[in-house]
Amino acid sequence: MPHPATEGSAGEPVREKIVWVRMEELALGMFVHPLSSASFLIARKEQIQTLAESGAKGVFVDLVKSAPASLPDWARGMAGMRPKPSSETTAPGLQRNSRAAAFDRARQLLNRSRAPVERLLRQARLGKTLEKRQVVDLVEDIATSVEQCASAIVSLSRIKTVDNFTYLHSLAVCALMVNFARLAGFGQADVRELGMAGLLHDVGKTAVGSAILTKPGSLTPEEMAVMRTHTTAGHEILSRGGHFPATVLDVALHHHEKIDGTGYPDKLAGDSISVPARMAAIADVYDAVTSNRPYKEASLPSESLADMFTWQGHFDQDLLHTFIRSVGIYPVGSLVRLASDRLGLVLEQDAIDLTKPVVRVFYSIAQRAPLTITDLSLARDGNDSVLSREDPRKWGFHDWDRRWPEMIRLD
Ligand SMILES: [Fe+2]
Ligand SMILES: [Fe+2]
Repeated sequence: MPHPATEGSAGEPVREKIVWVRMEELALGMFVHPLSSASFLIARKEQIQTLAESGAKGVFVDLVKSAPASLPDWARGMAGMRPKPSSETTAPGLQRNSRAAAFDRARQLLNRSRAPVERLLRQARLGKTLEKRQVVDLVEDIATSVEQCASAIVSLSRIKTVDNFTYLHSLAVCALMVNFARLAGFGQADVRELGMAGLLHDVGKTAVGSAILTKPGSLTPEEMAVMRTHTTAGHEILSRGGHFPATVLDVALHHHEKIDGTGYPDKLAGDSISVPARMAAIADVYDAVTSNRPYKEASLPSESLADMFTWQGHFDQDLLHTFIRSVGIYPVGSLVRLASDRLGLVLEQDAIDLTKPVVRVFYSIAQRAPLTITDLSLARDGNDSVLSREDPRKWGFHDWDRRWPEMIRLD
């Protein structure tokens, strides 16, 4: 499978306006982006000192709002370049009705996909040969759902319980891979192949005992060694019968390799890891860290993205940037605080500026009271902006994962 150029539709390089800057490179004049929890212009040396003392390894910096002279050489060329709207992304300004309908369809698709995915995993556990035709329709349905409204299936499949984790993780990585691949410029057939690879990437976990898979707390070195065999086991399961494309086998085998060569099972480094495997590594970790697991609370999606940037040597940085454009900085379903001292739910990404999503405003912080719901396109309405991402629990929304999909459906 060729690696498409990461370019916009008119052939111009697509750049982010926000970059991750390591603590050592921070300088006066840089504008710290709210994705780093706070938003301010670095005007005094003590502010850098305070950031360093917080233990952070770096912060997100808004290139456009920073003084050009403050930026490191590598970032200067990116400043001032706006990403082009991609025809591949979901059309902005979805009508409320069509958004609610897209969420309903995505919910139904996730529900009816449970049985076929679990049947497939059962067959793998019993040592039966899996066939490509068993998953083609499912991948097609997920690809269609992503094409209609990517944020619906991507955000709904993030909501997991211990009970449905395995099948939803497979579907989520499938949807994330389809969305990622479309934005990275792959053609239709390749997009589906990458989606299939996402769906089946962890099929080898059927060879790992459930005591290890669901163990609360961390694994012993011996248990970890067993867990790691899911890569070679998955490759073996999918090789039987010769039904699956090479990309699907490769992703099952190599989705835990890391760019610096410290991954497994083959300790591949850099370009010797295929692009599909590098993409799957990102989609897999993103879904794992944004979902609840038996042994940990999920992180906020935007926090997970920030964390993933700090894992030096783990991911392909160019692909990570493309991935972020596919899920957004404030993914749909995030709770955000606005400069107007109101809380809102992220409804949609803006195709041009990831810092300016469409937000459903519903709560006044000053009055500590609900507001009449209004939708606000921050890209179109220049009077308000996202100040920070918020932990719903901090505001008493302990059932946020149930609440926001309902709020999205409101008219
Ligand atoms: Fe895995
Ligand atoms: Fe996985």
